[in-house]
Amino acid sequence: MFVSSAARGAASRGARRAVATPGARGKSVAVGAPAPTRATVMRATTRAVARGASAIARASARPTFVTTPIYYVNDQPHIGHVYTSTVADAYARYRRARGEDVFFLTGTDEHGLKVEQSADKRGIEPRALADENSKKFRDVMTTYDISFDDFIRTTDAHHERQVQAFVKLLQERDAVYLGRFEGWYDEGQEEYYTESKAKELDYKSPISGKDMVRSSEENYYFRLSKFQKELEALHADNPEFLTPSARRNEMMGRLSEGLNDVPISRTNFKWGIQMPDDEKHVIYVWIDALMNYITAIGIGDGKDSALYTDRSKYWPASMHIMAKEISWFHSVIWPALLMALDLPLPQRVHAHAFWIREGRKMSKSLGNFVDLACMDRFKEHYGLDAMRYYLAVEGPIGAQDANFSTDRVQEVYSSDLVNTLGNSVSRTTAMINKYFGGEVQSEEKDGERVTFDNWDWPARTTAQVEDAMAAYDKLDLPRAAAAAKNIVMDVDLFITETEPFRMAKDETKRAELEACLYQCLEALRIAAVLLEPLMPNKMAEFDAGVGLGAGSLEERIRWGGLKAGTKVTKLALFPRVEGLDENGEAVKA
Ligand code: MSP
Repeated sequence: MFVSSAARGAASRGARRAVATPGARGKSVAVGAPAPTRATVMRATTRAVARGASAIARASARPTFVTTPIYYVNDQPHIGHVYTSTVADAYARYRRARGEDVFFLTGTDEHGLKVEQSADKRGIEPRALADENSKKFRDVMTTYDISFDDFIRTTDAHHERQVQAFVKLLQERDAVYLGRFEGWYDEGQEEYYTESKAKELDYKSPISGKDMVRSSEENYYFRLSKFQKELEALHADNPEFLTPSARRNEMMGRLSEGLNDVPISRTNFKWGIQMPDDEKHVIYVWIDALMNYITAIGIGDGKDSALYTDRSKYWPASMHIMAKEISWFHSVIWPALLMALDLPLPQRVHAHAFWIREGRKMSKSLGNFVDLACMDRFKEHYGLDAMRYYLAVEGPIGAQDANFSTDRVQEVYSSDLVNTLGNSVSRTTAMINKYFGGEVQSEEKDGERVTFDNWDWPARTTAQVEDAMAAYDKLDLPRAAAAAKNIVMDVDLFITETEPFRMAKDETKRAELEACLYQCLEALRIAAVLLEPLMPNKMAEFDAGVGLGAGSLEERIRWGGLKAGTKVTKLALFPRVEGLDENGEAVKA
């Protein structure tokens, strides 16, 4: 909730200034794309789903910009942060594999009252606390192999400078004004509530349960109400702008209640970016935070800056990824700010659901987070890629919350990775070693492919590849993984049906055996290419032992990429391991 009944009548227009700001310099904030009208968003959306002649959607010609939320430095990293970052990472890797020019942004959100208070409690400067905790998040990204291109911190000088420039521009455009507000304030969340909403909540914070306080203050306001119609049209006309659809319905419901202007400055603390030319006010942390998506690529610094030259082409963002609790900020406040700044809107906002534990929300008060130490124990035991795979296939990517369960980690690991993928790869590579000294043979005899009844491998793999790619495009990671797994399960079935070990005993079946094992390994290679965004390290092992093929994903998933004569080593990708207890500790006998 981020709402107030701003005293709009009392708005002071005195904030307008003629002095040029860096952001206003020669309209440098516009990246050359048309203003964000309804049509623009629709065109962008249509482009995104446009399909080429083949059934596989063409890689986008425009660059791809993927973001995670920037994480609060007053929290400790936990499974939720690792999850969103892993999802975004898999998506970024997939788009890179398709040959696209990808920029993947993550970082930390470092201002606000809570950081100031936590630092006070420890007797250190907010900056010191921010440095310490930002590093923890950055380390998580490295440990979990998150392939980010930049890690922005809202305390970066260039971010602070650009946020001020943007806010100044908003003032000049009369989208921000000085007004007085009297209402109910949730100190923990730094959010205001209207009388009616506060009453509905019994004047208690819906997050912490603490009493709201009556507060009156002079603030700068953003004219959110002015964008009511455009925001309604944005969501009504672009069902893919905010996904999953449950979130879109929720936002449309809230929009239909009518929008109020929102305060965008605070005077009760200092740890923030100062309002332009008014040292009494700091810019509200959410405005500061949302703008990271455009400051990281230099848009507010204008054409003369190196950052702008290198990165401005990435705007508008292709995909903002986050969890559902912040979809309001990303799908209502953020587009309105961009409209006011005359910048194009992001193509898509995806707000997934939550990881929960034993059916209950994870929270500080319950102390039931799957914290980083616990995640790390699982990672050490099962391996990083196995945990990435578990998060991807069992995670709350859609509207349903997902329960973190150690039993499921073990089941998914054993069934999908050890018994299916690992087993199939080791069986196939073992047979190639046993029968052909580790050298892949050809599937052709006298210039013709040797085929087996009902086993049209090129058609089978193409169908799964199309499904996996459509799923990746939609960020449906469980379905993408399932399509790859279908190929692997088909290989198992194929081996059962064709019985290569019997062929091996019959000299007249030499060509069939060669083709059979070629087809097993070629199908597995294609599955491995599809799994690479989820398990980059394990698939690198596959690459070292078998070869994944060269070129873009489209090239590598074509049947026939595996060359006869290739030397393969016997691969054991996933060792069998015991399950762990709920905390990721070894189970005591
Ligand atoms: N600083 C803001 C975001 C500003 S973005 C301009 C913030 N930070 S946060 O540290 O609280 O991170 C919230 C995000 O962490 C969620 O949106 C989600 O991506 C991730 N998760 C936090 N808890 C989660 C779960 N329990 N489950 C899944 N993801 C969750 O909000």
